[in-house]
Amino acid sequence: MDDQSEARTGKAESWTVGRGVQVTLRHTRPQDGGALRALVDGLSRESRYFRFLSGGRVVDAIVDGLAAPGPGGVALVVEAPDEVGVSAIVASAEYVVSGQVGEFAVVVADGWQGQGLGRRLIARLCELARAAGLRTLRGDVLSENRRMLAILRGLGFASRRNPQDSHLHEVTLALGQPARSPQRLPADWFGAR
Ligand SMILES: CC(C)(COP(=O)(O)OP(=O)(O)OC[C@H]1O[C@@H](n2cnc3c(N)ncnc32)[C@H](O)[C@@H]1OP(=O)(O)O)[C@@H](O)C(=O)NCCC(=O)NCCS
Repeated sequence: MDDQSEARTGKAESWTVGRGVQVTLRHTRPQDGGALRALVDGLSRESRYFRFLSGGRVVDAIVDGLAAPGPGGVALVVEAPDEVGVSAIVASAEYVVSGQVGEFAVVVADGWQGQGLGRRLIARLCELARAAGLRTLRGDVLSENRRMLAILRGLGFASRRNPQDSHLHEVTLALGQPARSPQRLPADWFGAR
């Protein structure tokens, strides 16, 4: 990666999960489209429903948006080796910006859930949104999605049942205060941005 594109996309961070597998969190690249489509198509019906509010095939425009979050937006992925050692995208998180608010969502491949990837991605989005000067991060989470709501509460998000739709909780984080995150960014993360 040259200096200019690194300045645009930020530095990657790698760590070890589970039985010694190295995973890498990085910003998306234009060529990630195919790997993101594979991630989405490989999701269980429940995970697809929790993330996209639909159990069917996710249309191309939505998958494209995972890598291209629009002006001011941020899109992150976690890469890991698949069963035969080939690198695959196993998680995706992004926010799109409207005014001073970032609207976020995240998904982790079923086989990789429960290993800290989701929490780490959301914590990273919070850090980047705060650094970008956004006022709030917000999202809509299905009320039955106990895991996601528990993670968000742990990171300091407020949640309330959506008055327009009782199946959804609206979650918000005011970015004025530091997030309650166990994961700190490496000291040089913002230096490259
Ligand atoms: C929700 C999701 C993003 C979380 O990512 P993840 O990598 O699986 O979660 P993590 O490993 O980072 O965190 C799991 C935490 O949830 C907790 N948890 C797991 N199941 C839970 C449940 N049913 N109720 C409450 N908490 C639960 C775990 O105890 C763990 O907390 P701990 O680290 O304090 O022990 C992921 O499971 C996912 O992609 N789900 C399907 C799509 C989705 O729901 N997306 C969110 C829509 S915006």
